[in-house]
Amino acid sequence: MGASPLEPVMIQRSPPPPPSRRQFWRSPALQAVLVCLFPFLLALFLALLIDQPPMPSPLNAEQLLTDPFLQLPTQDSVRVVWFTEFAGQNHQVWYGNRLQYHQNATTRPLSRLREDAKSPIPNPPTTPTFRTVWRHEALIPGLTPDQRVPYQVRSQRENGELIQSDRFSLAPAPSPGRGLKILLTSDHQLMPMTAANLEKVVATVGGVDGVFLAGDLVNIPDRGSEWFDSAKGNAFFPCLQGRAKFAIAQANGGERVYTGGPIIQNAPLFPALGNHEVMGRFSMAQTLSDQFSDPYPRPQAAEFFPVPGGQRTLDPSLQAAWLKAHSFNSDTYEEIFTLPQSSPGGKRYYAVSFGDIRLISLYVTNIWRVPTIEDGRVSRYREPQATAADPSQWSYGQHIFEPITPGSAQYEWLKAELASPEFQQAKYKIVMFHHPPHTLGGNIVPAYTDPQAIVDRNAQGEITAVRYEYPLDQDYIHKYLEPLWDQAGVQLVYYGHSHLWNRFRNAAGVNFLESSNVGNTYGAHWQDTEPRYVPPGYRETYVPLGDPYGLEPIMPTLDPVVDEQTQEPLPYIASNTLTVFSILDTATGNVTSYRFDTTVSESEAIAFDQFPLLP
Ligand SMILES: [Fe+2]
Repeated sequence: MGASPLEPVMIQRSPPPPPSRRQFWRSPALQAVLVCLFPFLLALFLALLIDQPPMPSPLNAEQLLTDPFLQLPTQDSVRVVWFTEFAGQNHQVWYGNRLQYHQNATTRPLSRLREDAKSPIPNPPTTPTFRTVWRHEALIPGLTPDQRVPYQVRSQRENGELIQSDRFSLAPAPSPGRGLKILLTSDHQLMPMTAANLEKVVATVGGVDGVFLAGDLVNIPDRGSEWFDSAKGNAFFPCLQGRAKFAIAQANGGERVYTGGPIIQNAPLFPALGNHEVMGRFSMAQTLSDQFSDPYPRPQAAEFFPVPGGQRTLDPSLQAAWLKAHSFNSDTYEEIFTLPQSSPGGKRYYAVSFGDIRLISLYVTNIWRVPTIEDGRVSRYREPQATAADPSQWSYGQHIFEPITPGSAQYEWLKAELASPEFQQAKYKIVMFHHPPHTLGGNIVPAYTDPQAIVDRNAQGEITAVRYEYPLDQDYIHKYLEPLWDQAGVQLVYYGHSHLWNRFRNAAGVNFLESSNVGNTYGAHWQDTEPRYVPPGYRETYVPLGDPYGLEPIMPTLDPVVDEQTQEPLPYIASNTLTVFSILDTATGNVTSYRFDTTVSESEAIAFDQFPLLP
């Protein structure tokens, strides 16, 4: 039957054909999606083209001698430094959110690093033996203030094997106004509590933005293992990079292995030269400890050990090397760190702006010698009788390494720096160095001055005895530097050397903080404690107790430690179980000091003192 014309005609429709490829790509909806996704797809495409790093491998990273660490941040750059024991090739820093950029490092070996019989390494050599360690440094340019960028370092062994670090983050110098946490620390010296201290810093305040280290980083600066890999587990870099392994017996039995803190991989380190960064006269026969204890004053070195050939030896670098070999040097410290070089002292003293801070780091330290008048020992107060008759064999007491008296290069530079707009306009004005200007510790006696040799002679005119006096009224720090700080509005003078915590404030309002009870203590000399040793029969009146310059220690404001006998609060911490660290918070202007009982690892650090840096 045919269909009526009036009946609706049911038209059998077939399904619509799929769009052609051309129609598909012309779809407005798809084009909108593609436009939105274009940046992402482009980035993905580029990322696939770029050599992507393999995932970090802890085993791989440990083949580097150190993790990388940050140095010399500027407004738009920072330097990344690391060390290997192989010369290798293709040493690079990879950085960016996908580690998509890289910079090549410059590589050079450290020149004075050695090990000897006392080195805590497997099979140490019997006599000083050079150890080759390679230093790599890359400048990372084009950075934006206050923006952290992930990074990783890679070094390739001679056999092609690629070694890479874990990922950390870098940043240029922070902009003014940004709140910063600065760790104030010193006197690490591979001491027993150092790893615990730095581990607790990170556990308590998290990452810090910078580290100010007031000297004495290691004990013997030319002994490589003290910086990198002492078998005792508490070398300098491992402690500051969270790779230490140092056990401390716990109060409830057992022991806790502390690791230090991963700090300087992400925060720049600004050190000052301590007496333990200075190496004495060079030798390949004497032990490294003996060489460390044998610095010789430069004027006497020039007099008694002149350059062979005298004026005919015209090469200044050879003359300088000869003088160093016969006096002292801080070459290893200067080779390890990249520091501002805006002063006549190069890296040895400098000034730097970091956020709201202007930091002046000075070279104020002298050789430490034993406080005794016992014959036969090289001491701060006398020459051994056996060598007294020969001035070329004298030790010259606690001689100062770098002059700070008026007219000296360092003093004149400091004076100009204190008056500079960079310093005067800074919100926080800080001076850091190693030797204590005010302390209850032992190392403030005798005075910081050039030793005055008192020579006794017999009737024949022969030298029979040599002793050294250090007049208190000739203390150069007190006499020449403190008036400069008073006048310049310095808010904080930060230092170390005596291995305890105490602080002071002078009449001009300058705060003095010694936060060097980090790894151990050498005690406090105050009220009923043991007095400092002072030599009997010397014409100078040496001060056995308290601050020789008359300041009273300030009682901690929050939670002072109490004397176990009297239960009276103490204005200091000098302990071999409690370790101390201090944090400057530039958002509040407060300096807060914390103590931590290393024998109770699960305990929290206690904030025991806080004071503001007032404008
Ligand atoms: Fe020291």
